[in-house]
Amino acid sequence: MDFHDRHVVISGGAGALGTAVVEALLAAGATCHIPCLDEAEAERFRLRGHERVKLAVTGSLADETAVEQLYQAITPLWASIHIAGGFAAAALRETSLATLRQQLDMNVVSCALCCRAAVNAMTGGAGKGGRIVNVAARAALEWRSGAGMVAYTASKTAVAALTVALAEEVAKDGILVNAVAPSIMDTPANRHAMPKADYALWPKVEEVAATILFLASPENRVTRGAVVPVYGKS
Ligand SMILES: NC(=O)c1ccc[n+]([C@@H]2O[C@H](COP(=O)([O-])OP(=O)(O)OC[C@H]3O[C@@H](n4cnc5c(N)ncnc54)[C@H](OP(=O)(O)O)[C@@H]3O)[C@@H](O)[C@H]2O)c1
Repeated sequence: MDFHDRHVVISGGAGALGTAVVEALLAAGATCHIPCLDEAEAERFRLRGHERVKLAVTGSLADETAVEQLYQAITPLWASIHIAGGFAAAALRETSLATLRQQLDMNVVSCALCCRAAVNAMTGGAGKGGRIVNVAARAALEWRSGAGMVAYTASKTAVAALTVALAEEVAKDGILVNAVAPSIMDTPANRHAMPKADYALWPKVEEVAATILFLASPENRVTRGAVVPVYGKS
């Protein structure tokens, strides 16, 4: 896959999956634009010294102004990959309104705002189409498995529905929109949280990144509106 001379936004690019995606994109020649929540996250990011890594401290991507400013600075935009998000495990009766809103903000609102800004960048001015890839979760495809994490499941299900609906809306603009739905991935945080699990069953972040890269690439010529399970052996 060839991303030479192509600008790509990767929200959540400094996280576990995000870093693997950025590494793969850099190897394929892309210029990677990564919004960071704060200076500390930008400082910590281990690929920060790379000449084709452009970091921007934006604050939360649930903030409309922050997202608009981020995308205005990037032209022409080829692809936008929305990995920012997070997990909250709790039964609904133990979920506060604050947690519910936090889950919706970090998973759906950030994704929707980035999708909107990306579509505008890909269709206005120099824009001639592009690729968008969102990150849902297995629970977004298998709702029963969301017991004990209802707010998370609802928010990731919204990401999946948004993906399919938007894909129809912008297909004629030459923008292909898709998502991946990971099961539990092999990350340091998950190993720490589940020390007795069989890690061999979990998909590796590099493997999930490979699927994302194809969906975001010019080589993806016809696939849109898919929410692709990336489960490994689990
Ligand atoms: N890990 C899994 O097993 C798993 C399974 C299914 C789906 N997913 C999804 O896959 C994605 C990546 O997971 P991961 O394990 O790589 O997570 P991660 O390491 O925590 O990375 C997520 C990144 O998103 C950023 N972020 C969260 N909310 C944000 C906001 N409102 N504005 C800006 N940035 C924000 C985080 O910043 P901070 O670190 O500064 O908060 C972090 O850099 C997430 O969407 C997650 O829900 C993960």
